[in-house]
Amino acid sequence: MRIALIADTHLSSRVPECLTNWHGARAAVRRLGTDLTINLGDVTFDGQHRPDDLALAGELVAQWPHPMLCVPGNHDVGDASGEAPFDPTRRAAYCANLGADHWSLTVGDWLLLGLNAQLFGTGSDAEQQQWQWIDERIRLLDNHTSVALFLHRPLARPHAGEHQRRGRYVPEPASDKLLHGPLRRNLKLVASGHLHQYLDRTVAGVRHLWLPSTAYLLGDDLQARIGEKLVGLGVLDLGDGDAAFDLWCPQGMVPHQVSELEFYRRKALERSRERLQMLGREAV
Ligand SMILES: [Fe+2]
Repeated sequence: MRIALIADTHLSSRVPECLTNWHGARAAVRRLGTDLTINLGDVTFDGQHRPDDLALAGELVAQWPHPMLCVPGNHDVGDASGEAPFDPTRRAAYCANLGADHWSLTVGDWLLLGLNAQLFGTGSDAEQQQWQWIDERIRLLDNHTSVALFLHRPLARPHAGEHQRRGRYVPEPASDKLLHGPLRRNLKLVASGHLHQYLDRTVAGVRHLWLPSTAYLLGDDLQARIGEKLVGLGVLDLGDGDAAFDLWCPQGMVPHQVSELEFYRRKALERSRERLQMLGREAV
């Protein structure tokens, strides 16, 4: 099966640059002949606060040339992750528009598990239910099944300094359990988004793929460079027991810098106008 991997699509009618790149990705998957697309979260620009962003994303996913399975990101359901309050109503709104927040799919000898990364570390009933669901899937595994995980936040931390960092990775108790717990024997691949950077590294027999955003880049002044900063999508070919991955930077997808998006330019202008007005009032 040929699967397109996309991430951080950040859909909103207020950010046309992200929509243009979405349509560029859509044209590319038609050319690449993929059977399924997996969206690795931050499907929306601000779905956690804006029902219209979630509704638009639901419509665009339904219009994709073939089935798309999504997992939620922080922009869709909030940070949660034990770092910010978990809001079950945001999760429910996400599921109403974009489908289940965790799912499984069997492809030949592969078991694909899509997970809600934002639940890990919340201590919520929803997190507990997701762990039970994962455990049930693990109990059904045989020695020949390869497992691939798809989730918004990465699991593996590439540098020692990254162990101190919050907000970027799945919290360590949960990532340790997924990487070194009962899945260890079968786990072969982990695909994630969130960083807007591309990285492909294998650690202890598990290939970790960080997918770049389809929408925009974060400049080095905003975010340290760990992988490669580009805009694109991935193509994953799953055969019996093996996986081939290619990164594509197709035509029609523009590598926008976040600071150059019209939305942020307008915000910056509004902020500087407000500052000027405040200074004017103080001067009077
Ligand atoms: Fe994200």
